[in-house]
Parts: sequence; C-alpha cells; structure tokens
Amino acid sequence: MSIEWNARYAIGVPQIDEQHKELIEKFSNYMKVCAKGNQQDEIVKMLTFLEKYVEKHFNDEEELQTQIKYPKFQQHLNAHMEYKAKIKKLKTEIENEHLSITTIITTNKEILRWIINHIGKMDNEIAEYIKQNNIKV
Ligand SMILES: [Fe+2]
Repeated sequence: MSIEWNARYAIGVPQIDEQHKELIEKFSNYMKVCAKGNQQDEIVKMLTFLEKYVEKHFNDEEELQTQIKYPKFQQHLNAHMEYKAKIKKLKTEIENEHLSITTIITTNKEILRWIINHIGKMDNEIAEYIKQNNIKV
C-alpha cells in the first residue's frame, strides 16, 4: 500500500497542487513509519495533522470554487464536510482505545482511498471545468 504524487493529479492551480503534493508526501511517509511499528502514536499524529490540514486546504479549495463559479460546488462542499466529520470521529475513536493492527490497516486504507478518490476524481473535475471554460486562475 503506497502512494506517490503523479502529474495526472494536478488540477493546474499551483496553490492547490502544492497542498495535494504535501498531503500525498505526508501520507506516504506516515505509511512507511507505520510499517515499522509504533502505529498508535503515528496514527494519532497523522490524524492531528489531517484535521488541521483539511481545515486550510478545504477552505482554499472552496474559495477557488466560489471564485470560478463552479457548478458542483455544493456537492463538493458536502464531501468536504463529510470528510472533516470522518476524521474527527476516527481521531476520537483512536485516542480512546488501543488499536488492533487490523483497525490500523483498515483506517489507513480508508484514508488512502479517500485521498486517491477525492484528488483523482472530484478535484480533477474542477480541473476539467477550468479547462473547458478557459478560466484563468
Ligand atoms: Fe476537494
């Protein structure tokens, strides 16, 4: 299970692309550390980072969508809110109980799947919209 930045993830907005790169890099390092043990501490650290990261990143993405009058803004906003709630829930659960390796693997897979799906699909649709409508960003 691993992930690396790939040019096809770029949406063409440097600020957002840099943030996506940072996220992928961070998550990839986290998975390497996790494989070596001490997962409980690492997963809490990762979720603390994610909680803070999405606050800024989602706000920036939402601002961009408002600015370009993105038609699927509401749908995207809902996905962001759902994800914020999911991170919060995961963090609370993880802080309060000792994790089994199965839970850690499932959680990591879930986070990874979300990153790939969200950047690769939903955020990519923003890139398509920008291109199709010749918007300067
Ligand atoms: Fe997004």
